[in-house]
Amino acid sequence: MWPAPVRAAASVASHDSRVTVSSHHIAMLRPVLKMGDPLLLQVARPVEKFDTPELRALLQDMHETMEALNGAGLAAPQIGVSQQVVIFGVSRNPRYPQAEEVPYTVLINPQLEPIGEEIEEDWEGCLSVPGMRGLVPRHVRLRYRGFDQQGGAIDRTVSGFHARVVQHEVDHLNGILYPMRIRDLRNFGFNETLFPGVDD
Ligand code: NI
Repeated sequence: MWPAPVRAAASVASHDSRVTVSSHHIAMLRPVLKMGDPLLLQVARPVEKFDTPELRALLQDMHETMEALNGAGLAAPQIGVSQQVVIFGVSRNPRYPQAEEVPYTVLINPQLEPIGEEIEEDWEGCLSVPGMRGLVPRHVRLRYRGFDQQGGAIDRTVSGFHARVVQHEVDHLNGILYPMRIRDLRNFGFNETLFPGVDD
């Protein structure tokens, strides 16, 4: 997912796609599947073994890819791996002081539990739907549980943008892309037309 508005993507062109992050695996910028690819519509399998070299390598590639593309989150199916693994995080940006910070999180085998009935619509983008934005309804508050890469339990209650990002990423694990949730397709379009002058 991309935050709205997003940070400038100026680093992409000069980005070195191969950076050594461990002695065993070289993190790679992986191609992101685009809407229309049937793999994005699959339900992902749960992870059964934690803290393995394969899982570490997957997370390194996901991190590398999300950073290079200035994403706020990425789900494993977006790079062609049908496993219940998502990462997300938004650091504070002085250019967008209103954008909420979301701690960098690795979330595996997640379970979401909405709290209350409140639904809010806001603009979302997705690395698998490049150049587009849509107005998407999400639960305002929710509890999410799951595991980190070592298998340690995660249990958080969040709201607002953090809750939105988690719902967007976990949707990817269930084969759901945000355009499928837009209530009125008049609120779906090209970013440069909807938000002229805003960095993408
Ligand atoms: Ni997405």
